[in-house]
Amino acid sequence: MTLAFSGLTEHTILLSGGSTLLGHGVVRTLHTAGARVAIADIDAEGAKPIIDELGPRVRFYPTDITDDGQVAATVAAVVAECGGLQGLVNMACSYSDEGADSTRAQWLQALDVNLVSAAIVTQHARRHLRAAGGAVVNFTSISSKVAQTGRWVYPASKAALVQLTRSMAMDLAGDGIRVNSVSPGWTWSTIMDQRGGGDRAMIDNLAAPFHLTHRVGDPAEVGSVVAFLLSSATTVVTGADWAVDGGYSAMGPEQAVPAAPQTTE
Ligand SMILES: NC(=O)c1ccc[n+]([C@@H]2O[C@H](COP(=O)([O-])OP(=O)(O)OC[C@H]3O[C@@H](n4cnc5c(N)ncnc54)[C@H](O)[C@@H]3O)[C@@H](O)[C@H]2O)c1
Repeated sequence: MTLAFSGLTEHTILLSGGSTLLGHGVVRTLHTAGARVAIADIDAEGAKPIIDELGPRVRFYPTDITDDGQVAATVAAVVAECGGLQGLVNMACSYSDEGADSTRAQWLQALDVNLVSAAIVTQHARRHLRAAGGAVVNFTSISSKVAQTGRWVYPASKAALVQLTRSMAMDLAGDGIRVNSVSPGWTWSTIMDQRGGGDRAMIDNLAAPFHLTHRVGDPAEVGSVVAFLLSSATTVVTGADWAVDGGYSAMGPEQAVPAAPQTTE
């Protein structure tokens, strides 16, 4: 799947968490839309294939986003080397979650990556985004709105990030910076590739009852919404959470099955 959208030429986009499969898809889509992409991640090996594939308009900046010094150094380096910053994508995440048994350390670590670091990276990027009239996209999730068995930490972190998106939009509007979030449904990603042994059709089948599109999303399909929200095509859009979920959140507990006939059975 490719994107016929070129709304990000002259844009430098800083993106945390671009080193795995879904991240590669988003990077590829931003690149296709014309952007220079700066990947800030702890996984240099994981970023290598996408840099080799796309060439000099994609760069890797080794960054632990929970370390303020590293965040400051990365933002400064990106601005110095790319001549400015027009967009920020807070995508890095931790799935660490033991549900009801999660320790305080696990809570704090996951919240630090998923929530606090999005705020801190945005804080560091703010003055550069202000100068450029830039935009921020936060990665939230369908998990922000529903209970999922055995998961307490990840959904709470994503729900908080949906709210943080509104707060950011409110307080950065005066700087001419727009802030939105995308909430993907099941999306073809490293975790699915590993759990499904690379069998996309099997994962699509598993996803079918939960998504009106009867399959998992493709990273490029998420990337295209991110590119759209970062572009001047959406200058009146801020503070919104975008469902990029194949209709997952439109469905209720009855799923896409006629419920009324069952009452007569
Ligand atoms: N996979 C899905 O189906 C799905 C669904 C909904 C939302 N999402 C969201 O999409 C985004 C990407 O998900 P994914 O499945 O590709 O996740 P992933 O675990 O495969 O990738 C996360 C990335 O974040 C990086 N990272 C982790 N801690 C970091 C730190 N301290 N500093 C810098 N980088 C760090 C990792 O190295 C990795 O590259 C996440 O925000 C996730 O919540 C994914």
